[in-house]
Formats: sequence, C-alpha cells, structure tokens
Amino acid sequence: MDSAAVHQHAEAVGSGWPPGLTRVPYWIYQDQAILRAEQQRIFEGPAWHYLCLEADIPNHGDYRASFMGAMPVIAVRGEAGEIHAFENRCAHRGALIAFEDAGTVKEFTCAYHAWRYDLRGNLCSIAFQRGVGGKGGMPDSFRMQEHGPRKLRTATIGGLVFATLAADAPELLDYLGAEIAARIRRVLHKPVEVIGRFIQPLPNNWKLYAENVKDTYHASLLHLFFTTFRITRFSQAGGVTVSRGGAHHASTTIGRLEAQDSVYKDEALRSDSEFRLHDPSLLDAVDEFGDNIQLQILTVFPSMVLQQIHNCLAVRQIVPRGVAAMDLHWTYIGFADDTKAMRRRRLKQANLVGPAGYVSMEDGCIGGFVQRGIAAASEALSVVEMGGATAESQPTRATETAVRGFWQTYRALMGL
Ligand code: FES
Ligand SMILES: [Fe+2]
Repeated sequence: MDSAAVHQHAEAVGSGWPPGLTRVPYWIYQDQAILRAEQQRIFEGPAWHYLCLEADIPNHGDYRASFMGAMPVIAVRGEAGEIHAFENRCAHRGALIAFEDAGTVKEFTCAYHAWRYDLRGNLCSIAFQRGVGGKGGMPDSFRMQEHGPRKLRTATIGGLVFATLAADAPELLDYLGAEIAARIRRVLHKPVEVIGRFIQPLPNNWKLYAENVKDTYHASLLHLFFTTFRITRFSQAGGVTVSRGGAHHASTTIGRLEAQDSVYKDEALRSDSEFRLHDPSLLDAVDEFGDNIQLQILTVFPSMVLQQIHNCLAVRQIVPRGVAAMDLHWTYIGFADDTKAMRRRRLKQANLVGPAGYVSMEDGCIGGFVQRGIAAASEALSVVEMGGATAESQPTRATETAVRGFWQTYRALMGL
C-alpha cells in the first residue's frame, strides 16, 4: 500500500490522527490494512530487524529460522564465518525452505520437490530439471539464477544478528546511534551462551507490546513484585535514553533501595504486598557489570528487546501474528565463562520473567486488556502525555517519552 492509500485508508477507518506524539488512535491496533502496510513499510522497509544470536549459529552450516514481521527468514553461517540471511520461501511454489527452527546443513533442500539452495540462498539445483527419459522437465529457457528467495543485508553488534531488506537502510551502527550501541555493548560485552528459549503467544496487536516495553511509567505500578521487593521504584535513580528520532530506547534503574520510601503511599498507590519470598536467594543479585545498574531494558525498533534485570539476561523478539495476536520469542542468555554459581543465579532469576514470571506475567495480559478495552472505540485516542510531548531522553522513569519515540518513528515510516 503506498502512502496515499494508507492515508486514504486511515481516513476511512478513523477520524484521522492529530499531529504530534501524545495521541494515538485505537484503529491503529485493529486494522488488517494497517498490518499489511506495516509489513511493507516497516518490516520490509528501511529498518533493521533482530534475527538471532551469533551464538545460535556458531559454525559453518548452522542456521536458525526467524522472522521479519510476517516474513519467515533463515540466518545461516557461511564458510568464512560470514552470516547470510534470506527469505525462507522456496522459489518453486513457496514452501518453507527450512521448516525446523534450527539445524546444520551443507545446503538447503526444499521438502516439497527437492529444489536445492546454497548457504547464500542461491537456487543451485532442480530435481529432474531435464525430465526423465527425455520427457518432462523444465524448459531450456528456465534460468535458475533468475529465481530465488529475497536476500537480506546482515550486520551484527554484540553478538546480535540483524538484517534488512532495504538497500537504503543506514548502516546498523548509524541506525542504532552511539548511545544505544553503547548500552547494548554494556551488557553483551563478551561471548554469550543460550541457556533457554520459548515462545509466548500474546492476545494483542504487536504495537501494544512494543509500547509496553518502552513504557517506564507502568513498571512500578503494574508490577507489584517490583515495588514489594524494591527492584525498581521511582524513588531509585535512573532514567530513559531515547535515540535520535525516537526509534530505540534504554531505561535504567540505578542502585539498590535500602530504606522504604513513601512516594507510593503519598499517592495512595499500592506499593507493597504481604507476600514474602520463602527463598530470598531469588534476588541475590551480583553487580556483574560494575556500574550498579540493577535493571536495563532496551529496545531496538521495531521488534527487539534486550533485558537485564539483575543477572537475568534475555533477548525478546516481537513477531506479529495477525491484527490482535503476536508471539514473543524469548532467548535467555548467560556468558560462556559464567561460574556454576552465576549460571544457577541466572536460571533462578529467570523466574522473574516469561509467561509465569513474577514480574512479566502482568505484561502477558495487559496488552490483551487494552485490545479488549478498545473493541468499540476505534476512533478514540489514547493519552501519552506523561513527561511532556516530545521524545527525548529524560532523567526519570515517570514518563512516556520512549512510547512517544516509538510513534515518532512509526508515523514517519508509515507516512501517517
Ligand atoms: S515448493 Fe520447493 S521444491 Fe517445490
Ligand atoms: Fe511490564
């Protein structure tokens, strides 16, 4: 859909979208044509998309299946250690080229009619191309080199593999900006190992999750575990870094809170519960990065999250699955040189996040609450005004600045 068509459509489904970053119309989460336009303009547009970890594909021939929005993608390690990525779609009749999540191959053979592809995604052989006994087969005019899956540009930072279809996307480091790149490298500063993974289906539009993870305002209000056990409260130091143009963010909570503060009580907000941990070692955290940052949540527009909550490290990938459904692909990581005690600590702290996580279980339902709440309100607008009207870095988490940043980039890419 070109920009004029998206506009026309936007006007048809809603009452338009006021300029600025503080109002978001609810039809943006409800519309099939918007989802299709997002695929074209964002997921296949000039943005970089997280595919997997380099640690997922350490050796020649190792591959991992991933996604760029709805588009299935293969990332594979080439002969000289380089990483190739291409669409996971056979040039013949469209079957997945790789249907396993991961594996090691010399080449890819499509299961349907055995067309073969090399590790760069080049079509290199066709079963019975010359037919059998002089009968059948492909016409002489068929040129294999003219057929193949779409190939992607790839780039890495801190062991994260990104890809884009767009020849005009800036270099990955320019896309991220120096501040976000430094925040990624702060966590991913040495070789990692995957220590767990799973997929969490969520009953909401993908953008509701993208907003949630940039929404530093909600963390200590929705998540009672955070405030009860003083992992992050507004009274702790920290803030939000928003990249130029708004696309990416990193929020931090610095230092431990020893004394109970009164800011939540003063506002008559729940900030404590009677729950106590039977095993307090769950929160026995170590300052492994040496900077006293207890929590850093980082996003790379549109679909990646890098999480450090104490010593629980994870990468999350947002995969849209329809207007009101998405999958969240979680990969828990540790470092290759973790001690046994540190690995145990990471696995224990993994209980904080994920579908049943002490902290994240609320994030698993809140997007669904919004999706249900707005069912009859396509033309109404949400209010995104905490901390002002712009999308700049701020020395507080009582703000929605990073959410506004998401919409700033989104509107620019969508032409809305
Ligand atoms: S669809 Fe792949 S070989 Fe036919
Ligand atoms: Fe949350």
